[in-house]
Amino acid sequence: MQACALTVLCAASLLMISPKEVQTQETAEDYDDYGDLPKNCSVSESIAGGWVSYSEEGGEGSVLTYHCEAGHYVYPISTRVCSATGEWSAMRLANGRRVAQATCKEMQCPAQLQLDNGELWPRQQWFRLGEMQEFSCQDGFSLRGSAERNCTLWGTWTGSTPVCDDQADDCSNPGTPPGALRTGDRFRVGEKVQYRCRTGLDLLGSSERVCLESREWSGSEARCLAPFTFDAPDSAALAMAGSLSGVMDVTSPEYKKRESFGRTMRIGKDHNHLNIYILLDTSGSISKQDFQKARDATNALICKLASYEVNMKFQIISYATEAKEIMKITHPLSSNVAYVLQELVDFDYTVHGRKTGTNLHAALNIVYGKMAFLKASRDGKFNETQHVILIMTDGHSNTGRSPKAVLANIRNLLGYSNQSKDRGLEDHTAEKLLDVYVFGVGENVNKKELNTLTSKKRGEQHIFILKEYEDLGKVFDEMISDSAVTMCGIAQEAANDKPNKDYTRPWHVEIMTRISSGKPQKCKGSIVTENWILTAAHCFKPEAIENPGSVKIVHGRGEEKTADRVIMHPQYNITGLRHKKVKEFYDYDVALVKLNQSIKLSGEARPICLPCTKPASSALKMDPTSSCHQHEKALFHLEETPALFLTHGFSRKLTHIQTGSRREDCIKQARVTLTPETTAHLTEFVTDRFLCTGGSEFYKDTITCKGDSGGSLFLRKKYRYFQVGVVSWGNRDVCSTGDPPPDDARDFHISIFSVLPWLKQHLGQELEFLPITS
Ligand SMILES: *[C@@H]1O[C@H](CO)[C@@H](O)[C@H](O)[C@H]1NC(C)=O
Ligand SMILES: *[C@@H]1O[C@H](CO)[C@@H](O)[C@H](O)[C@H]1NC(C)=O
Ligand SMILES: *[C@@H]1O[C@H](CO)[C@@H](O)[C@H](O)[C@H]1NC(C)=O
Ligand SMILES: *[C@@H]1O[C@H](CO)[C@@H](O)[C@H](O)[C@H]1NC(C)=O
Ligand SMILES: *[C@@H]1O[C@H](CO)[C@@H](O)[C@H](O)[C@H]1NC(C)=O
Ligand SMILES: *[C@@H]1O[C@H](CO)[C@@H](O)[C@H](O)[C@H]1NC(C)=O
Repeated sequence: MQACALTVLCAASLLMISPKEVQTQETAEDYDDYGDLPKNCSVSESIAGGWVSYSEEGGEGSVLTYHCEAGHYVYPISTRVCSATGEWSAMRLANGRRVAQATCKEMQCPAQLQLDNGELWPRQQWFRLGEMQEFSCQDGFSLRGSAERNCTLWGTWTGSTPVCDDQADDCSNPGTPPGALRTGDRFRVGEKVQYRCRTGLDLLGSSERVCLESREWSGSEARCLAPFTFDAPDSAALAMAGSLSGVMDVTSPEYKKRESFGRTMRIGKDHNHLNIYILLDTSGSISKQDFQKARDATNALICKLASYEVNMKFQIISYATEAKEIMKITHPLSSNVAYVLQELVDFDYTVHGRKTGTNLHAALNIVYGKMAFLKASRDGKFNETQHVILIMTDGHSNTGRSPKAVLANIRNLLGYSNQSKDRGLEDHTAEKLLDVYVFGVGENVNKKELNTLTSKKRGEQHIFILKEYEDLGKVFDEMISDSAVTMCGIAQEAANDKPNKDYTRPWHVEIMTRISSGKPQKCKGSIVTENWILTAAHCFKPEAIENPGSVKIVHGRGEEKTADRVIMHPQYNITGLRHKKVKEFYDYDVALVKLNQSIKLSGEARPICLPCTKPASSALKMDPTSSCHQHEKALFHLEETPALFLTHGFSRKLTHIQTGSRREDCIKQARVTLTPETTAHLTEFVTDRFLCTGGSEFYKDTITCKGDSGGSLFLRKKYRYFQVGVVSWGNRDVCSTGDPPPDDARDFHISIFSVLPWLKQHLGQELEFLPITS
């Protein structure tokens, strides 16, 4: 207990660290005649149209933050730091002039100024929130991109840059993004265009592009960002996922009809090695809260990355005046996600002391050193390893030598030394084994310098400027909701504060059957491929099977599909034990519904992984030749395996599958549903096909409700989701009363492992199954 109390004390003093940005700008005039007397800063500052918060009560190192309403930004800067002399740090414009009072200004979007062969309207320099700019093309030219764009809360535009093109040249017209000016209007192979941004805006992406032999423009698209505008987390997530899925989605040749993401990987199927280097800025300008947010975001990122099917190792570096290794890639456990996360959590960022420098050079040099070491030692594998460097920073590097020089060394090491150099252009598209991403956070980042560090690849974005660290967490969390990620069993994790936004159950569907008159019958089901839904057989009356048009499938946020066919398991027979006085018999209670139209896969509609399939092998990160039995062992490794199901309002509930000797106790509770006259033995009624959940003599679990039938009983493994059962029936119905389940409440589910030959028979065309021995 003593030690804990001490830790808290130490933590509190951390807040005294003052931002480097401001410290370095202080001049003699800030220390007039206060002598050495400690004095607090005023905590009654104000801002018109907004509010002010303080990290402490105005003591030295306390941080003042101005806040404005949505759609507004703080001018000129949003944070100030209290000096030892009791003065808030000065606010200055780019030209050094001091500003006495901060104000809230309305967010604005820089206008598109240029549209070749077309008209843009209205013509003005800036647009206000909600205002629209419209575009049209002259005869003979067709419009690519948006015909109208709206200025958003973030100071960015909806849609994409409009271009009027007639396809007459080798390369298509590269367009001119909002706020930018382009020189060069010839688009033949070898010809160049240059971009610059209007005064006051920073250019991100490539400032010069050349029309390549391949009739594409080199580098990445330019964009112009105003000092007060930031990337919206969802659009950053989309761009990041689009780029990263190219890196990650290398190992799924099992997926039939897989789209290519335009990146050809040199990585062989069995040697997909991915090294991730995460560089965290812990210099003085980051408060303890911000460090925690950066750490949480990193945590989220690692969890997301872990759900991809690539073997990855992590290096995590914290950098201030010096760089410290949190996790070494050469450590034997650098691929163990749980271990990596623990190292990150355990890292005490006070090891940097009150040092305020930002030595990105030193951090990158560690990366270089590791790569050189790996190259020298891992004979053969190095040329098949991808390297992804993620730099997170809230400022510009102000200590040490140029980070760019180290990146040049890294490129050299990978054999990318003379890329496009002779043409004086930056284009890293050919650098298949290297991606450098930068996340700049806050208004103090030096966008120009950070832009020189990132990879510039065609059709991809590697630099993101975010407003605050919280946004970084959002980016990584939303990344996998991108529709480019179509692998099975990937879902967002529920965050308590935004339950409606998260989509934690993309495979889950509702099935509604409306036959003749009467109430529609409701069941649940799961997407197992883009054309097939797995559910329970008892959901369908014979009329529904004959009339599949009456069966509707609702997926995602209310999209509807119609059944083309309903296939019941041939051994399902509800009256199968009538002769033994069992009214309803649910053995083989599974059905497949073929849709009359494919589901468009997205973050809100994605299949769950079915065990004993190739995609499940990849998701479990098991060898492609692994057996069905190995899947079963990996998924049910305990006597009581934790599993989940969805009920009322799609909330996830935890339960436990009772296996081994515990199963017997569990199924005993099914007896209450049998009449005294029955001659059926319990195991005839609860056959080997059933999984049993709901609790044991020691505890109880939540149970399913009427209407949950057909839904998935699923597990989480390796940050992916696997369906192991189909919800069939329960011995108690307590949901209608709202009472807690009685001690003997149990649920029964058809095990996926018991119906594999049937699943393979129908799904085998779309899903590759492992050899099934029964
Ligand atoms: C001055 O700052 C310290 C530390 O931030 C705080 O504890 C104290 O209450 C402040 N004094 C006044 C008079 O506000
Ligand atoms: C832009 O705003 C107009 C009018 O406010 C609206 O009708 C239109 O749907 C918006 N367009 C987009 C792409 O948001
Ligand atoms: C990597 O290097 C090894 C050994 O030098 C070679 O056999 C292998 O083909 C190389 N792989 C690639 C993808 O270049
Ligand atoms: C370097 O340049 C030479 C000649 O221009 C070219 O043949 C070679 O492929 C280049 N090497 C790399 C790694 O790009
Ligand atoms: C699917 O079924 C619905 C309802 O019967 C019908 O309107 C639709 O045209 C069908 N779609 C296809 C692709 O067959
Ligand atoms: C269901 O089982 C009963 C009793 O064994 C049998 O009479 C009936 O034919 C079976 N129905 C089907 C469709 O197999």
